[in-house]
Amino acid sequence: MARRGPILYIIVCAAGIADGVGELIAAAHAEGWAVVVVATPSALGFIDQEAIESQSGYPIRSAWSTPSGSPSVPRADAIAVAPATFNTINKWAAGIADTLALGILCEAYGLGIPVAVQPYLNSAQAAHPAYVESLTRLRAMDVFIGDYVPHKPKSGGGRNAYNWISVLDLLRPVMQSRGGEASNGD
Ligand SMILES: Cc1cc2nc3c(=O)[nH]c(=O)nc-3n(C[C@H](O)[C@H](O)[C@H](O)COP(=O)(O)O)c2cc1C
Repeated sequence: MARRGPILYIIVCAAGIADGVGELIAAAHAEGWAVVVVATPSALGFIDQEAIESQSGYPIRSAWSTPSGSPSVPRADAIAVAPATFNTINKWAAGIADTLALGILCEAYGLGIPVAVQPYLNSAQAAHPAYVESLTRLRAMDVFIGDYVPHKPKSGGGRNAYNWISVLDLLRPVMQSRGGEASNGD
């Protein structure tokens, strides 16, 4: 069932750990957020769609068209991108909007919606100059960047080192400054 509260869009990209997004949804609910999951088209194959829709209470959004008969989805008060791929980060920073997730991210800046991103990628991807420039541009757009240290290529990834919750920590101060919504209940 859909929850009450400020609306957090969680944008899920096609990274190997995307199946763990339930941890972030649970933590966001515990902070008072209602959660809508937006998956990139490629990410749909990485997640248990039925389980996520049941947990969030909203249909997963992935394309612009809304399936007929599905409940309408409220507008975002804030956006968390986790896990964020190399691909989506670079396209977002470049202003490319060829997925619904990217369209939402590209408009968020102009709409003044706070955005936090926790990347998940390897160090070979992170070494590409485009990635460094993308992070610089996103920071200049007041996007909050998480603390993930890129893992070694072919190492099986850094699932255990991935802090899902950091996006909530990053959004908390700005949400509190806007009226104390979705505080951690302290
Ligand atoms: C099994 C698998 C795991 C992947 N893991 C990652 C990853 O951890 N980080 C990443 O940036 N890309 C990863 N990729 C590559 C992305 O899925 C690919 O770049 C895709 O185009 C990203 O699409 P999206 O950004 O629209 O979600 C992975 C691909 C596969 C098949």
